[in-house]
Amino acid sequence: MKTYKIAIIAGDGTGPEVIREGLKVMEASASKYSFKLNTHSYDFGGERYLRTKEILPDSAIDELKTFDAIYLGAIGHPEVKPGILEKGILLRLRFDLDQYINLRPVTLYDERFCPLKNKKPQDIDFVVVRENSEGLYKGLGEFQNKGMANEVAIQISHNTRKGVERCVRYAFEYTRQHGKKKKLTLCGKTNVLTFAFDLWERTFYEVAKEYPDVKTEYTHVDATTMWFVKNPEWFDVIVTDNMFGDIITDLGAMIQGGMGIAAGGNINPQGVSMFEPIGGSAPKYTGQNIINPLAAVCAGAMLLRQMGENKAADSIEETVKDVVRSKLMDLAAGKMGYSTSQVGDLVVEGLK
Ligand code: IPM
Ligand code: MN
Repeated sequence: MKTYKIAIIAGDGTGPEVIREGLKVMEASASKYSFKLNTHSYDFGGERYLRTKEILPDSAIDELKTFDAIYLGAIGHPEVKPGILEKGILLRLRFDLDQYINLRPVTLYDERFCPLKNKKPQDIDFVVVRENSEGLYKGLGEFQNKGMANEVAIQISHNTRKGVERCVRYAFEYTRQHGKKKKLTLCGKTNVLTFAFDLWERTFYEVAKEYPDVKTEYTHVDATTMWFVKNPEWFDVIVTDNMFGDIITDLGAMIQGGMGIAAGGNINPQGVSMFEPIGGSAPKYTGQNIINPLAAVCAGAMLLRQMGENKAADSIEETVKDVVRSKLMDLAAGKMGYSTSQVGDLVVEGLK
């Protein structure tokens, strides 16, 4: 029987609660579709850091490279200064494992949960391909005269031809294979960021020549946010840099019904990928069994798809859609009409 070796980093806050449900669903799917999950848990996160001052040992990176995939809950702890865990765990994993794509589907399952007027599931169904290894996230820059009246803080967006091209190429390939409209939109800011997005635009249209079957389009990032609200039905696949991708995918999560349902994959097509609900650790809901686990469940489906278990992934996604449509009163924590574990159970039941 096919066995996948999965590293679990449940992490902080509600991470462990949603990962538990995600694993429950993945296990049910594994027995239905005849494969096995061999999981190993790591306790990286805020609690471990506060206890031991250790964030992520170097040996962990080497160990994680031996897995087929990583399933991550959430990173971020209210008692730890913002940035330490995010940079030290989440961003470090993305960078060191060279997960250069952050794939974030935006799918509305039920119009009741869309904050936009008159938008239906067929109107909100697109994917953002966010560059995940460069840009402003590279951490380049400096302070000059820190703390003085003439202080300068410089933060550099670092874009390499190689980094941009591999991301753009992935997006074209993804659009060719999965795009419903076979349309790829480059989201940038060529009118102001005349170095970074000049490179992005040139690369985009050069690679486009190899994909005559894919329609291309360019939108500025500010206009993109406007169209997410006004005409989300225009989009199919969007490719953008790390920072813009971070911002527009939170807006994307809102129009698909909120953080409770938004999943993402940090993908290294040649290496180890990591799948996570994109909502964060939600400390105020921790331990109450009221957080929505469906984002984690959908991240689990993306993980299985990456393993090549497409039927398993499809059936989880279909079941989630069904549960959202026929059972849940709301997608937000505490308003679902069911507890976290009951929602997991509903999906497991639905899979049978
Ligand atoms: C995300 C998060 C992270 C990011 C943070 C926690 C570092 O917002 O996954 O979108 O900015 O990438
Ligand atoms: Mn974000």
